Amino acid sequence: MGNTALITGASSGIGKEFARYHGARGGDLVLVARSKEKLKELKTELENNHGISVMVIAADLAVPDSADQIFAATEEAGLEIDILINNAGFGGHGKFHQRKLARDLAMMQVNMTSLVALTHLYLKGMVQRNSGKILHVASTAAFLPGPLQAVYYATKSFVLSFSQAIAQELEGTGVTSTALCPGAVATGFVAAGDLYGVKVFDNAASAESVAECGYEAMLKGDLVKINEKGLHFMLNWVVPFLPRKTVLKISQQSMEKC
Ligand SMILES: NC(=O)c1ccc[n+]([C@@H]2O[C@H](COP(=O)([O-])OP(=O)(O)OC[C@H]3O[C@@H](n4cnc5c(N)ncnc54)[C@H](OP(=O)(O)O)[C@@H]3O)[C@@H](O)[C@H]2O)c1
Repeated sequence: MGNTALITGASSGIGKEFARYHGARGGDLVLVARSKEKLKELKTELENNHGISVMVIAADLAVPDSADQIFAATEEAGLEIDILINNAGFGGHGKFHQRKLARDLAMMQVNMTSLVALTHLYLKGMVQRNSGKILHVASTAAFLPGPLQAVYYATKSFVLSFSQAIAQELEGTGVTSTALCPGAVATGFVAAGDLYGVKVFDNAASAESVAECGYEAMLKGDLVKINEKGLHFMLNWVVPFLPRKTVLKISQQSMEKC
């Protein structure tokens, strides 16, 4: 198996740390995000530190044909993608009816539609080669509805469901699909989603630790990985047995601003 990874959302946070972790293992990279200058800086850092090749693709995943353009660019460069890390995503705070619809529709495009399109485009080659790894960055938000982040939580439920379903379809092909479900992580996510003052981010994990956890789970071909043991227990062994109304109240409280 080759070792070229395409990472979306590589300009900051968890995606940037995925790139650093993969680069440190000697793998080549394709970095995707909107912020071209940040990607170019990371390219320089990683090529200098690890002697690897890094390609930068500036793309807005909220634009419907962006996945096709990314695929065309890697095909033109003659690159085979061995690892696809679908990491780009953003959230947004507030009651659904008071939020800008365009923002939530763009969120759905980035968090779900472009993720599905990229997976479809790159998965075919992986299956033909009988090898490949896909890591989908979902969230602990995938496990329950999220009042005050209704669309974001729903997008992450979609990602978790989709990743598991194709993992099953891919049994025996040499290709795996892993869903990483982090709790709160200290990244640009808070600013991008207007989540300042939301208490769960007070004890956020580092992007570096989450990237390492997700990357290693992907290498093992794990189905689902939650980065924190306590959250794993709560989401699998407590939340499913609570009354729905109770879950919704607790979930809303966790998203309220102080
Ligand atoms: N931080 C958390 O608490 C947390 C918890 C669970 C899951 N997650 C998930 O982790 C993933 C990474 O987020 P993060 O925490 O690392 O946040 P971040 O620091 O804000 O990084 C988000 C990345 O996504 C990219 N992105 C956003 N919109 C994009 C668009 N329209 N087109 C292309 N790229 C876009 C950003 O790049 P540009 O702005 O340069 O385009 C950036 O590189 C997301 O899927 C998020 O939902 C985060």
